[in-house]
Amino acid sequence: MSSQDNSEENLPQQQDDADGGVLATRDNPFANPGLPPHEHRVQDIDERAAKRSERVVAGLFTLSMLSTIGFIASFVAFPVDKIVYVFPIGHVSALNLSLGLTLGLALFCIGAGAIHWARTLMTDVEVPEERHDIEATPEVREEVLAGFQDGARESDLGRRKLVRNTLIGAMAMVPLTGLVLLRDLGPMPGTMLRHTKWAKGKMLINENTHEPLRPEDIAVGSLTFAMPEGLSEEDHDFNNQIAKAALMIVRLQPENIKDKRELDWSHEGIVAFSKICTHVGCPISLYEQQTHHVLCPCHQSTFDLTDGGRVIFGPAGHALPQLRITVNDKGYLEAMGDFAEPVGPAYWERG
Ligand code: FES
Repeated sequence: MSSQDNSEENLPQQQDDADGGVLATRDNPFANPGLPPHEHRVQDIDERAAKRSERVVAGLFTLSMLSTIGFIASFVAFPVDKIVYVFPIGHVSALNLSLGLTLGLALFCIGAGAIHWARTLMTDVEVPEERHDIEATPEVREEVLAGFQDGARESDLGRRKLVRNTLIGAMAMVPLTGLVLLRDLGPMPGTMLRHTKWAKGKMLINENTHEPLRPEDIAVGSLTFAMPEGLSEEDHDFNNQIAKAALMIVRLQPENIKDKRELDWSHEGIVAFSKICTHVGCPISLYEQQTHHVLCPCHQSTFDLTDGGRVIFGPAGHALPQLRITVNDKGYLEAMGDFAEPVGPAYWERG
C-alpha cells in the first residue's frame, strides 16, 4: 500500500534538522521543530524605548500606590450607609464601590506593571528546559540558585532604581488595605448594643398594628411584640434599630412574679423583656402560657419571665434584659428609660 511510504518503518533511525530541532525518527515519531530564531525587541536595541517602558512600569506602580491611598481615604470619606446611583448598576453603597474600585486598581496596576516589565525590560532569551529526575541533585540545586541570581541580575533591578523603588512602595502599601478593613468589625459590641431606641416617655407600639399599646390590650396568656414610638419601617436603619429594640410583653399575675425588681419595673403585672436571645441573638418567639417560660427556637434556651427573665435551660449565659414600663397620663404604656444592660448576645463581660 502506498500509505506505508509514511509509516514508522520508513522513518530514519536518527535525524537532526539544521535549526537545532529534531525530525521524526522511528524511535521518536514526534518532530521537535526547535526554537525559532531570536528576535530582538525594540527595547533591547533602543535605550530610549527601554526608558519609555521603564516610565510606564513606574507609572503603573505609582498609580497602585495612589489607589491604595484612595482605598484608605475611602474609609474616612464615606459613611457606611451612604448610597449612590451608578449607571448601569443602580443604587450601591458608596463605601463598597470606592473600596472595590481602589483596591482593584491597586492590584491591577501591580500586575500590569510586572507584566509590562517582564515583556519589555527583562531578558527574553528563550531557554529550553530538559526533563530530569524529580529529585534534584546538588549540582542542579546549585544551578537553580545560580539561575535565580541570574534572573535577579537580568531583571535590572539594581540599575533601574525607579522601577525597583516604586515596586517596593506599591508592594509595601497594598497590605495596609488589610489593616483598615479591621474597621468593618464594627464598634465594640458593648458600645453598640448598650443603647437602643428606648428612652424615657417613648410609648410601646404594637409591632403588628403599629398602634400605641394600652394595658387593657395585653391579655393574660398572650405574647405581644412591640417597638419604640418614632421607629418607622421607612427609616434607613430600621432593621438595625429593631434588631436591638424588639420587645415582648406579657401579662402575669403580680403574685406570680418572683423577682422584686421585676415587680417594680412592671405595670399591673405587665412585664416587658428584650426579644433578643442572650445566646447568639435569635428572636424569641415561643411562649408557654402556663409556666410563663419563653423559648428561643435556635438552640432552645428557655427563660422564666416570672423570675427576671432568668435562664432555666440552654446555652444562653444571661437573663433577658427587662424594660422598665409605666402608663402615661393618656393611658398608654411607655418606657421609663432604656434597657439597664446591653441587649443580645453576651460574648463580652457586661460588667
Ligand atoms: S440564639 Fe437563642 S438559644 Fe441560641
